[in-house]
Amino acid sequence: MDLSVILFWIGSGLISLIVVEALLSMVASIFEARRSRLAMQLSAEQLQKEIAKAGTSATRTKTMRAWRGYRRFILDEKVNEADHICSFHIRPLDEEPLPNFEPGQHLGFQLRIPGKRKPQVRNYSLSAAPGDRRRYKITVKQIPPPPDQPGAPPGQGSTYLHESLSPGDLLEVSSPAGKFVLDRSDPRPAVFLAGGIGVTPLISMIDTVCNENIARKCYFIHAVTNKAEHAFRDHLQQLAEKHSNIELHFFYSQFDENAETESENPNYNTGFIDVERLAKITGGGDLRYYICGPPPMMNSLIPALEESGVPTESISNEAFGPASTRKKATPNATDSENGSPAQKPLMLYFKTSNRSLTWDQRSPILEMADEAGIYIDSSCRSGNCGTCEVRLQDGQVKYDDEPEAEITEGHCLACVAKPITDIVIEA
Ligand SMILES: Cc1cc2nc3c(=O)[nH]c(=O)nc-3n(C[C@H](O)[C@H](O)[C@H](O)COP(=O)(O)OP(=O)(O)OC[C@H]3O[C@@H](n4cnc5c(N)ncnc54)[C@H](O)[C@@H]3O)c2cc1C
Ligand code: FES
Repeated sequence: MDLSVILFWIGSGLISLIVVEALLSMVASIFEARRSRLAMQLSAEQLQKEIAKAGTSATRTKTMRAWRGYRRFILDEKVNEADHICSFHIRPLDEEPLPNFEPGQHLGFQLRIPGKRKPQVRNYSLSAAPGDRRRYKITVKQIPPPPDQPGAPPGQGSTYLHESLSPGDLLEVSSPAGKFVLDRSDPRPAVFLAGGIGVTPLISMIDTVCNENIARKCYFIHAVTNKAEHAFRDHLQQLAEKHSNIELHFFYSQFDENAETESENPNYNTGFIDVERLAKITGGGDLRYYICGPPPMMNSLIPALEESGVPTESISNEAFGPASTRKKATPNATDSENGSPAQKPLMLYFKTSNRSLTWDQRSPILEMADEAGIYIDSSCRSGNCGTCEVRLQDGQVKYDDEPEAEITEGHCLACVAKPITDIVIEA
């Protein structure tokens, strides 16, 4: 074969190879560009997912316990606020910064009272605005014996805190909890209504309004027995002097010659607070209520407010003891005309007491037990403290809202648990 023909074929072969290689690398780079676009898309989606996940867990941590169980604190300082009312400033033994809390939340205390076989659990609201990462503050009233039993022992937990504890002593404290909290995003005028020592969570709320310069109108109403027992009075007056959106009203149920009279100061009243007096102060309208006080005050005032037309969702409340603030119950299925139940009623067996009750289709286990005279230890009655935890031997329960307190396997929180099958509990 002629050399020129051979060279022609070799040259054509080389050119074809170069062309094929160029084509292949073009195809490869198109694929590579597609792949990296896809990878970018995927990582953007992944990022979005991660952001969403982080958002959810951040929201969740707001309601999660800041620490599990009980953390050791040292009593740093004890300050007298009024007759039988004392503030306790506590700092963590581990000296790690304290987590923030929502204004209105409380701490749980496991008190080891000498002579008591079991530690006593008591809740105390944080009585200052959040922000101090070194110390928490609570304010406690020493509870006297009931008026009709003057010989009975005074309140165990509050007496222990008042009389036996001194700065430097240790306390076991569970993390801030509770859903009775200030809604900072609600622009409506707020009515803070406190009865006696029920003022503590509301102090945390009003301090927050002032610290954060929240401009909404605030009516702060505190009903107390007399001036001697009036904690935080000077503090509130100072706040009202500095912040024109805060209006104070005090109600003294006992005649007190040392207290200002209504003629000297129209914001000082004698007698009890009721819905009519409340409406006179606020003028009514679309208001947001935060109420905390003793059970009798809550039992009367909240249903009366609702009856006067205030929507239930506009009232947040917390009772420091057993209170029943619900409106009258709607008739249950066993009240039907022929008296026969609409469906098979659920049974609650209280094993220790050897009693069985038919569930009324609305009440938590603790309320059923209370009404039947079956004793279950309780404190917050709102799923926050864990005091009412009882062993669930058989059956299942549900919770309308996820309780704050941790629940031991095989147990339930009687104050908020409702049965969904027949149940057997140890009580
Ligand atoms: C969410 C929440 C927040 C709270 N925040 C605060 C707060 O900020 N400040 C505050 O001071 N409190 C607060 N409390 C109330 C607090 O938790 C306690 O319930 C309160 O201190 C009373 O507890 P105690 O141990 O002193 O009384 P207890 O020992 O429980 O006694 C209660 C009453 O029973 C009487 N009693 C006791 N033994 C007998 C007997 N054998 N016979 C007859 N009567 C008897 C006592 O004399 C007393 O009157 C809060 C409660 C809750 C649920
Ligand atoms: S009484 Fe506090 S969780 Fe039930």
